[in-house]
Amino acid sequence: MRIGALSSVLSVLGFSASLVTANNNSLPTIEIEGNAFFNSETGERFYIRGVDYQPGGSSNLTDPLGDIEICKRDVPKFQDLGLNAVRIYTVDNTQDHTECMQMLANAGIYVILDVNTPDSSISRSDPGCSYNADYLQTVFATVDAFANYTNVLGFFAGNEVINDQTNTDTATYVKAVVRDMKKYMRARKYRQIPVGYSAADVTENVLLAAHYFNCGDDDDARIDMFGVNDYSWCGQSSFQLSGYSIKMKSYKNYSIPIFLSEFGCTKVTPRPFTEIGAIYSTQMSSVFSGGLVYEYSNEANNYGLVQIDGEDSVTTLQDYNNLKTEFQNNPNPEGDGNYSKNNNVSTCPSFESGTWEANNTLPPMPSAASAFFSKGAGQPMGTKYPTQFRCGDANISDYFRVSSGSSSSSVSNSQSSSQSSSSSASSQSSSTSTSASRSSSATSSSKSSSKSKGSAVIAVQVPTVFRAFLHVWNYVL
Ligand SMILES: *[C@@H]1O[C@H](CO)[C@@H](O)[C@H](O)[C@H]1NC(C)=O
Ligand SMILES: *[C@@H]1O[C@H](CO)[C@@H](O)[C@H](O)[C@H]1NC(C)=O
Ligand SMILES: *[C@@H]1O[C@H](CO)[C@@H](O)[C@H](O)[C@H]1NC(C)=O
Ligand SMILES: *[C@@H]1O[C@H](CO)[C@@H](O)[C@H](O)[C@H]1NC(C)=O
Ligand SMILES: *[C@@H]1O[C@H](CO)[C@@H](O)[C@H](O)[C@H]1NC(C)=O
Ligand SMILES: *[C@@H]1O[C@H](CO)[C@@H](O)[C@H](O)[C@H]1NC(C)=O
Ligand SMILES: *[C@@H]1O[C@H](CO)[C@@H](O)[C@H](O)[C@H]1NC(C)=O
Ligand SMILES: *[C@@H]1O[C@H](CO)[C@@H](O)[C@H](O)[C@H]1NC(C)=O
Repeated sequence: MRIGALSSVLSVLGFSASLVTANNNSLPTIEIEGNAFFNSETGERFYIRGVDYQPGGSSNLTDPLGDIEICKRDVPKFQDLGLNAVRIYTVDNTQDHTECMQMLANAGIYVILDVNTPDSSISRSDPGCSYNADYLQTVFATVDAFANYTNVLGFFAGNEVINDQTNTDTATYVKAVVRDMKKYMRARKYRQIPVGYSAADVTENVLLAAHYFNCGDDDDARIDMFGVNDYSWCGQSSFQLSGYSIKMKSYKNYSIPIFLSEFGCTKVTPRPFTEIGAIYSTQMSSVFSGGLVYEYSNEANNYGLVQIDGEDSVTTLQDYNNLKTEFQNNPNPEGDGNYSKNNNVSTCPSFESGTWEANNTLPPMPSAASAFFSKGAGQPMGTKYPTQFRCGDANISDYFRVSSGSSSSSVSNSQSSSQSSSSSASSQSSSTSTSASRSSSATSSSKSSSKSKGSAVIAVQVPTVFRAFLHVWNYVL
């Protein structure tokens, strides 16, 4: 194990640094070896004990890490629950996250971050078009905004982009994004933060997806970690009954860390969370590295642990107490949990029409985006920046213009509103609800359809306000 960031910083800066950082330590980075996570300072195996965190629900683009009041309200609850990680689905890359990231670090909590926004992500209806230089700019600007925090455990390049049997072709583009993010971090000399994919539990293709994202000769294109959204353990279930035992067998040879990026079936409520006893035991530790409960705040779909009362208070629900008790009663397995150090990368699944339609040859990165590798991503564009329908290369000089902050004539609005009212958003929603007929996990998919962030299921907002410098938006097509 390498010496962690904290100790090297302290040893370089010496005594005065330890005074200044007395309450503001950075956390040791989490590193990957074989199919497990490790604390880079102590060498201990790291199991994710987390919650999914999107206060306000999936259609609310409030960045919970951009508002210190929200963090002051929620971080003490995370600590009380015994968490070491939260997953955030959307951040605003124009905001300053320093205070919240520091507060989380002080509480020993890592962040797993989805780099997409509903409007800026790979689209199921036209994935090739949505994979464009403007989209990569938003992804890279989010990487810029978080790369320096040692408590970023990893990034998700996509969430549930494949959500039924008709859109496996999208994987090609998500994998291209994985490749581009990893190359970007190297080019910018950032820490190589792990990049993963969070998969919907689609029985027919989740394993194909796991192998696809972890196959091939290009190290950059392979994910570093795989998250499965899994709602198969309901109420007082068991390792056998839930199907966890089958998943253990299916993923036995997988070479990188896997964890449950969402779990917590609500067919039985209040949820007893007895799966915690299985997840953090030697029954599963050789293959799985913990997971994240869906979800912290109670929203319309009723998956919450707390009810948000306002800016400064929440009411804890019975699920909260049950989860806290289960975490307390189930410490991590001793030692290394029998992880696998030397499993081989996966074999690429072959193209099969109607079953697995991802291409093992990835598209090249849109050429304009290569400027970001040398210059950085430039001006971050925030959450209301639709890129899905901008096929091709951008005029990236727009991102490097000095913003005057003066008034905008909103010239580009006609274009952006036609984009967001495009019929593809609704065709995507309907393809999402088709998957609700999937028998094995109806709860999961009905939940997914109401909150999916992986692509433009949500297209309610009509962007009307653009930054001043964008009003002369040009394309190189
Ligand atoms: C989004 O959530 C924040 C707090 O989490 C809340 O203040 C705001 O009203 C919500 N906005 C919408 C549009 O629901
Ligand atoms: C330490 O972090 C907290 C947030 O957790 C912040 O309020 C405080 O100002 C920081 N202190 C220093 C000395 O940076
Ligand atoms: C990250 O930290 C380094 C060293 O402190 C600093 O030079 C750089 O500007 C920071 N990068 C970002 C994107 O904040
Ligand atoms: C795992 O690998 C072993 C040895 O290579 C092999 O026999 C077994 O079939 C594999 N299991 C799965 C589920 O792929
Ligand atoms: C770990 O694996 C070894 C060898 O396969 C086995 O003997 C041991 O019982 C396992 N330990 C646990 C805790 O599963
Ligand atoms: C990995 O692949 C090599 C070469 O194909 C093979 O010899 C080895 O047994 C494999 N390792 C495992 C753990 O399956
Ligand atoms: C995969 O991509 C390659 C290169 O772009 C292309 O030639 C090939 O036709 C694609 N295969 C399929 C099945 O789409
Ligand atoms: C790109 O934008 C810059 C600055 O607005 C402009 O000077 C240049 O002509 C544009 N290039 C193309 C190919 O549109």
